[in-house]
Amino acid sequence: MSTATGETKRVTTHSIQAMKNRGEKIAMLTAYDYSTACILDEAGVDILLVGDSASNVMAGHETTLPITLDQMIYHAQSVVRAVKRSMVVVDLPFGSYQSNSEIALSSAIRIMKESGAHAVKLEGGEEVEESIRRILRAGIPVMGHLGLTPQSIYKFGTYSVRAKEDAEAQKLRDDAILLDNLGCFSLVLEKIPATLAKEVSESIDIPTIGIGAGKHCDGQVLVTQDMLGITKAFKPRFLRRYLELFDMIGDATRQYIADVKSTNFPNDQEQY
Ligand code: KIV
Repeated sequence: MSTATGETKRVTTHSIQAMKNRGEKIAMLTAYDYSTACILDEAGVDILLVGDSASNVMAGHETTLPITLDQMIYHAQSVVRAVKRSMVVVDLPFGSYQSNSEIALSSAIRIMKESGAHAVKLEGGEEVEESIRRILRAGIPVMGHLGLTPQSIYKFGTYSVRAKEDAEAQKLRDDAILLDNLGCFSLVLEKIPATLAKEVSESIDIPTIGIGAGKHCDGQVLVTQDMLGITKAFKPRFLRRYLELFDMIGDATRQYIADVKSTNFPNDQEQY
């Protein structure tokens, strides 16, 4: 992780590809704020995704659709300030790239220029081909996202597993090859059958990063607040909880309240 001069070696699109080539799995987590990003970066996570899931997790919206480009840039700036090693990828929010490729490019440029992030992510395959081409031509690395693409939730109608039917599975295979050929540096596969994710991961050169897509992806991503048990009610089958922070923070808060009410806090050592 550190060079001979003591400088931390940053994760880049090249190191991500090299990880796939040598069979090392890629660990990605979401981050939306400075304090959390400091912890995740120091722990050694390879990629921090400033996901548009900030719309749900940070702002309490029901979907990812309401979050704006300005809000994504604010979150990205906070995360970029924290990192020394991780690569920072930022979601292009709903409405910032679908209408035409010129708008897509200007949204991606704003993210890169105003936040200092290292790459952008966007959802979809051939529908957004022109936007991806244009962003890549400007020298901005792009991470793709196929399968359950939450910005299309009103088209899907549910958050259930995608690409179980042959036609949708075939479109996903074709889109994955297209994104690879266009020059995306990696691809998120969300909530699709593990067998399909395995087939796709083996059929393309770039790394796949799965969420609910099984163990054969080249890497995994989870929403940090889900993985830490802050979002208590969200319990999909694919989620592994490493802590139960909702309960732990609740216990600490109840203890604090009790200490204040009982005048146990602050004590003589905790005052000037
Ligand atoms: O916004 C997000 O958090 C994501 C991940 C779930 C991949 O896109």
